Amino acid sequence: MKVLILETAAQAVARATGFVVTMVQQKPDAVLGLATGGTMLPLYDCLRARHLAEGVSFAGVSTFNLDEYIGLSPDHPCSYHHYMQKALFDHIDIDPARTHLPHGDSADPTAEAARYEALIAATGGIDLQLLGIGQNGHIGFNEPTSSLASRTRLKTLTEDTRRANQRYFDSFDDTPRYALTMGVATILESKSCLLLATGSAKADAVAAMVEGPVAAICPASALQLHRNVTVVLDQEAAAGLKLRTYYHHVHPKGDESAIG
Ligand code: GLP
Repeated sequence: MKVLILETAAQAVARATGFVVTMVQQKPDAVLGLATGGTMLPLYDCLRARHLAEGVSFAGVSTFNLDEYIGLSPDHPCSYHHYMQKALFDHIDIDPARTHLPHGDSADPTAEAARYEALIAATGGIDLQLLGIGQNGHIGFNEPTSSLASRTRLKTLTEDTRRANQRYFDSFDDTPRYALTMGVATILESKSCLLLATGSAKADAVAAMVEGPVAAICPASALQLHRNVTVVLDQEAAAGLKLRTYYHHVHPKGDESAIG
């Protein structure tokens, strides 16, 4: 794992954005795995800005989002479909036919999960998977004790996760109980992963992910088994790391080009 620690959240976001831009510039038909959540919003703002200012193009890019709530139609204002439209897709030159999210309103979520997996494979697999992390160590909606061999499937959300996401809904009761999410093994099949975490609320989860044992209790720790993972953090999210000084030494100011 490459652990890049930047001074501020804004710097961490800019650094993470740079990875996405480099990917689409080097491979104009790249397949991007996308994430949602508050952490990603400034990153999508930066991508929009770089599209506008520098003409960074997404015309040939395909995208697959990690997850979607069960029971919400794509036009529901709290769906991840809607989030992606508003945060990114409406503002860049991406072909809507090449943007994919699981359908949370499918009558048969198991069949939908299989369809999604097959579509990822048929598109050639994910070149760069963007990830956030939940305070409980989830990636996508792979809650603690998710199988590290899991594939895209229906998952029951923990109360903690529902409470964390309640802010987007009218009430806790309105917050969905289930989601369709790529599995941990699906994520690990991506050719590269980029995890962005900012703020002190993520410090414990980040420490467990990077320095804890590989264990289903912290699904993000499975990323230790992947050969090409970059973790971009601000100082606050990095605060729980025991080897902080080493990561600063290896990648001064978050310089990813240094030898790992
Ligand atoms: C959500 C999403 C995850 C996201 C995480 C953190 O529940 N399913 O993909 O990484 O929680 O969200 P935030 O960035 O808002 O803290």
